Amino acid sequence: MTNWEERYQIGDTPWEKGQAAPPLLELLRKMEANEWGDGPILVPGCGLGHDVRALAELRIPVVGVDLSPFAVSRAGEFHPIGREIYELADFLDPDWRAGRQFSAVWEHTCFCAIDPSQRARYAQVVADCLEEGGLLAGVFFLTPHDPGDEKSGPPFETSIEELDQWFSPNFQRVDGWVPAAAYPGREGREWIGLFRKKSQPSVAGETGCR
Ligand SMILES: C[S@@+](CC[C@H](N)C(=O)[O-])C[C@H]1O[C@@H](n2cnc3c(N)ncnc32)[C@H](O)[C@@H]1O
Repeated sequence: MTNWEERYQIGDTPWEKGQAAPPLLELLRKMEANEWGDGPILVPGCGLGHDVRALAELRIPVVGVDLSPFAVSRAGEFHPIGREIYELADFLDPDWRAGRQFSAVWEHTCFCAIDPSQRARYAQVVADCLEEGGLLAGVFFLTPHDPGDEKSGPPFETSIEELDQWFSPNFQRVDGWVPAAAYPGREGREWIGLFRKKSQPSVAGETGCR
């Protein structure tokens, strides 16, 4: 299991690029601000928060969550852009998210960082903390390892088929493409997926329907 705090403390952070993810900036250029809802937007595994601050330009609240005290502390040292905050928590922990709802989730290198045995939980947590119709937008690292070097990149890969399998019970996939913009070395290896949370089936009696 990865010790994220230790990796930040010793500076073993090849994912840390000092800037927001180029696919997120591409998405922000493409989407209307109102497609993110009224906020807050949740950024799980936000690291030093570059994506959080890019989203804060939308002028809606953004919450970055990370379980590394080092990362959260460093994120908080950046000049604030808007209504962004950083929280130290395991976003899979039900106590952390109890009673909270988000209009959107931005995923970037958190899904590929958690153990694959936690993916069902990840998909359920994201569904639980989004409002109905809420947006799950993510850039997923499909081929994280450099060719011939299994030790490079984030620990776990995924596929579009697998993402559909995890998210389709609660989400409708509304768009997906390989981003034109990428960090150097990640060109053509990522995929942006946009999913909308489905409405819950109404239960007769609760809604008055018969
Ligand atoms: C590969 S790093 C990516 C960080 C950031 N998204 C970026 O691209 O710079 C994965 C991050 O997820 C965080 N993380 C892993 N599991 C987490 C969890 N269950 N809850 C919150 N953060 C988590 C780690 O501490 C680490 O900062």
